[in-house]
Amino acid sequence: MPLMAELRPIEILLSEAQIQKRVAELAAEIRRDFPDDLHVIAVLKGAFIFLSDLIRHMPGHVSMDFMAVSSYAKATKTSGEVRLLKDLDTTLEGRNVVIVEDIVDTGLTLTYLQEILRARNPRSLRTACLLSKPSRRQVDVKVEYIGFTIEDRFVVGYGLDYAEQYRNLPHIAVVG
Ligand code: IMP
Repeated sequence: MPLMAELRPIEILLSEAQIQKRVAELAAEIRRDFPDDLHVIAVLKGAFIFLSDLIRHMPGHVSMDFMAVSSYAKATKTSGEVRLLKDLDTTLEGRNVVIVEDIVDTGLTLTYLQEILRARNPRSLRTACLLSKPSRRQVDVKVEYIGFTIEDRFVVGYGLDYAEQYRNLPHIAVVG
Protein backbone atom coordinates (compact mmCIF):
# COMPACT_ATOMS: atom_id res chain seq x y z
CA MET A 1 0.00 0.00 0.00
CA PRO A 2 1.58 3.38 -0.92
CA LEU A 3 2.22 5.88 1.88
CA MET A 4 -0.20 8.40 0.40
CA ALA A 5 -3.08 6.04 1.12
CA GLU A 6 -2.40 6.23 4.86
CA LEU A 7 -3.00 9.91 5.44
CA ARG A 8 -5.18 12.21 3.36
CA PRO A 9 -6.15 15.88 3.53
CA ILE A 10 -9.26 15.91 5.71
CA GLU A 11 -9.88 19.53 6.59
CA ILE A 12 -9.03 22.88 5.00
CA LEU A 13 -7.09 24.94 7.51
CA LEU A 14 -6.28 27.95 5.31
CA SER A 15 -8.18 28.74 2.13
CA GLU A 16 -6.58 29.87 -1.11
CA ALA A 17 -8.03 33.38 -0.58
CA GLN A 18 -6.67 33.62 2.98
CA ILE A 19 -3.21 32.54 1.82
CA GLN A 20 -3.14 34.92 -1.16
CA LYS A 21 -4.15 37.90 0.99
CA ARG A 22 -1.52 37.16 3.61
CA VAL A 23 1.24 36.51 1.07
CA ALA A 24 0.54 39.91 -0.53
CA GLU A 25 0.81 41.55 2.91
CA LEU A 26 4.10 39.79 3.65
CA ALA A 27 5.52 40.82 0.26
CA ALA A 28 4.60 44.46 0.92
CA GLU A 29 6.18 44.32 4.37
CA ILE A 30 9.44 42.81 3.05
CA ARG A 31 9.56 45.30 0.16
CA ARG A 32 9.04 48.17 2.62
CA ASP A 33 12.00 46.95 4.68
CA PHE A 34 14.17 46.41 1.59
CA PRO A 35 12.95 48.78 -1.13
CA ASP A 36 16.06 48.55 -3.32
CA ASP A 37 18.42 45.65 -2.94
CA LEU A 38 16.78 42.34 -2.10
CA HIS A 39 17.96 38.78 -2.64
CA VAL A 40 15.53 36.01 -1.71
CA ILE A 41 16.52 32.41 -1.15
CA ALA A 42 13.85 29.74 -1.36
CA VAL A 43 14.28 26.47 0.42
CA LEU A 44 13.24 23.64 -1.88
CA LYS A 45 11.03 21.96 -2.29
CA GLY A 46 8.36 23.18 0.10
CA ALA A 47 8.81 26.93 -0.44
CA PHE A 48 8.59 27.02 -4.24
CA ILE A 49 4.94 28.05 -4.46
CA PHE A 50 5.20 30.53 -1.59
CA LEU A 51 8.24 32.12 -3.26
CA SER A 52 6.59 32.35 -6.66
CA ASP A 53 3.52 34.13 -5.26
CA LEU A 54 5.59 36.30 -2.91
CA ILE A 55 7.90 37.74 -5.58
CA ARG A 56 5.02 38.52 -7.93
CA HIS A 57 3.73 40.92 -5.28
CA MET A 58 7.09 42.72 -5.16
CA PRO A 59 7.62 45.54 -7.61
CA GLY A 60 11.19 46.59 -8.46
CA HIS A 61 14.42 44.65 -8.36
CA VAL A 62 14.55 41.31 -6.63
CA SER A 63 17.02 38.52 -7.32
CA MET A 64 16.62 34.96 -6.14
CA ASP A 65 18.39 31.69 -5.62
CA PHE A 66 17.47 28.23 -4.41
CA MET A 67 18.73 25.76 -1.85
CA ALA A 68 17.56 22.26 -1.19
CA VAL A 69 17.78 20.61 2.17
CA SER A 70 16.41 17.39 3.50
CA SER A 71 15.80 16.08 6.95
CA TYR A 72 16.42 12.36 7.04
CA ALA A 73 12.92 11.39 8.15
CA LYS A 74 10.57 10.98 5.24
CA ALA A 75 7.23 10.74 6.98
CA THR A 76 5.47 13.13 9.36
CA LYS A 77 8.33 13.40 11.87
CA THR A 78 11.35 15.68 11.60
CA SER A 79 14.56 14.00 12.71
CA GLY A 80 16.62 17.08 13.37
CA GLU A 81 19.38 15.95 11.02
CA VAL A 82 19.69 18.27 8.05
CA ARG A 83 21.43 17.50 4.77
CA LEU A 84 22.36 20.16 2.20
CA LEU A 85 21.23 18.75 -1.15
CA LYS A 86 21.68 21.82 -3.34
CA ASP A 87 23.77 24.88 -2.54
CA LEU A 88 23.36 28.42 -3.85
CA ASP A 89 24.65 29.52 -7.25
CA THR A 90 25.79 33.01 -6.21
CA THR A 91 27.55 34.81 -3.35
CA LEU A 92 25.69 36.55 -0.51
CA GLU A 93 28.51 38.98 0.32
CA GLY A 94 27.08 42.43 1.10
CA ARG A 95 23.49 41.59 0.05
CA ASN A 96 20.18 41.95 1.87
CA VAL A 97 19.05 38.33 2.06
CA VAL A 98 15.66 36.93 3.01
CA ILE A 99 15.34 33.17 3.44
CA VAL A 100 11.92 31.95 2.27
CA GLU A 101 10.74 28.79 4.07
CA ASP A 102 7.46 26.92 3.98
CA ILE A 103 7.12 26.09 7.67
CA VAL A 104 9.09 26.32 10.87
CA ASP A 105 8.36 23.36 13.09
CA THR A 106 11.13 22.32 15.52
CA GLY A 107 13.27 25.14 14.09
CA LEU A 108 16.24 22.84 13.50
CA THR A 109 16.29 23.19 9.71
CA LEU A 110 16.11 26.97 9.86
CA THR A 111 18.77 27.22 12.56
CA TYR A 112 21.11 25.21 10.35
CA LEU A 113 20.33 27.34 7.30
CA GLN A 114 20.73 30.64 9.11
CA GLU A 115 24.09 29.52 10.48
CA ILE A 116 25.56 28.52 7.13
CA LEU A 117 24.17 31.58 5.33
CA ARG A 118 25.28 34.07 7.99
CA ALA A 119 28.82 32.72 7.59
CA ARG A 120 28.73 33.98 3.98
CA ASN A 121 28.64 37.62 5.11
CA PRO A 122 25.36 39.01 3.80
CA ARG A 123 24.68 42.66 4.71
CA SER A 124 21.52 41.48 6.45
CA LEU A 125 19.83 38.12 6.89
CA ARG A 126 16.13 37.71 7.66
CA THR A 127 13.64 34.88 7.35
CA ALA A 128 10.10 34.63 5.99
CA CYS A 129 8.02 31.55 6.80
CA LEU A 130 4.51 30.97 5.56
CA LEU A 131 3.64 28.85 8.61
CA SER A 132 4.92 28.48 12.14
CA LYS A 133 4.11 25.81 14.72
CA PRO A 134 5.51 27.41 17.91
CA SER A 135 4.38 24.56 20.18
CA ARG A 136 6.82 22.23 18.39
CA ARG A 137 9.89 24.43 18.71
CA GLN A 138 13.08 22.76 19.99
CA VAL A 139 15.40 25.71 19.35
CA ASP A 140 14.71 29.41 19.64
CA VAL A 141 15.05 30.55 16.04
CA LYS A 142 14.36 34.09 14.86
CA VAL A 143 11.76 34.52 12.10
CA GLU A 144 10.99 38.12 11.13
CA TYR A 145 8.08 37.48 8.76
CA ILE A 146 5.46 34.84 9.63
CA GLY A 147 2.37 34.20 7.50
CA PHE A 148 0.27 32.17 9.91
CA THR A 149 0.80 30.62 13.32
CA ILE A 150 -0.82 27.19 13.50
CA GLU A 151 -1.44 24.41 16.01
CA ASP A 152 0.56 21.20 16.10
CA ARG A 153 -1.13 19.54 13.10
CA PHE A 154 0.57 18.03 10.05
CA VAL A 155 -0.43 20.09 7.05
CA VAL A 156 -0.11 19.75 3.28
CA GLY A 157 -0.73 21.87 0.20
CA TYR A 158 0.63 25.12 -1.23
CA GLY A 159 4.03 23.48 -1.65
CA LEU A 160 3.96 21.33 1.49
CA ASP A 161 3.90 17.57 1.04
CA TYR A 162 3.15 14.33 2.71
CA ALA A 163 5.32 11.65 1.05
CA GLU A 164 5.74 13.96 -1.98
CA GLN A 165 2.01 14.29 -2.50
CA TYR A 166 -0.40 17.23 -2.18
CA ARG A 167 2.08 20.03 -2.93
CA ASN A 168 -0.28 21.12 -5.73
CA LEU A 169 -3.25 21.95 -3.52
CA PRO A 170 -4.01 25.71 -3.67
CA HIS A 171 -4.99 25.69 0.03
CA ILE A 172 -3.45 24.29 3.23
CA ALA A 173 -5.14 21.20 4.62
CA VAL A 174 -4.67 19.03 7.69
CA VAL A 175 -3.99 15.36 7.04
CA GLY A 176 -5.49 12.61 9.10
P1 IMP B 1 11.91 21.78 11.35
O1 IMP B 1 13.38 21.60 11.09
O2 IMP B 1 11.39 20.81 12.35
O3 IMP B 1 11.53 23.21 11.70
O4 IMP B 1 11.16 21.34 10.06
C1 IMP B 1 11.05 22.09 8.94
C2 IMP B 1 10.70 21.20 7.77
O5 IMP B 1 9.90 20.06 8.15
C3 IMP B 1 9.83 22.00 6.83
O6 IMP B 1 10.62 22.75 5.93
C4 IMP B 1 9.01 20.92 6.17
O7 IMP B 1 9.70 20.39 5.08
C5 IMP B 1 8.85 19.85 7.23
N1 IMP B 1 7.56 19.97 7.94
C6 IMP B 1 7.37 20.31 9.23
N2 IMP B 1 6.06 20.31 9.54
C7 IMP B 1 5.40 20.01 8.40
C8 IMP B 1 4.01 19.89 8.07
O8 IMP B 1 3.09 20.07 8.88
N3 IMP B 1 3.75 19.54 6.78
C9 IMP B 1 4.72 19.33 5.84
N4 IMP B 1 6.01 19.45 6.12
C10 IMP B 1 6.37 19.78 7.38
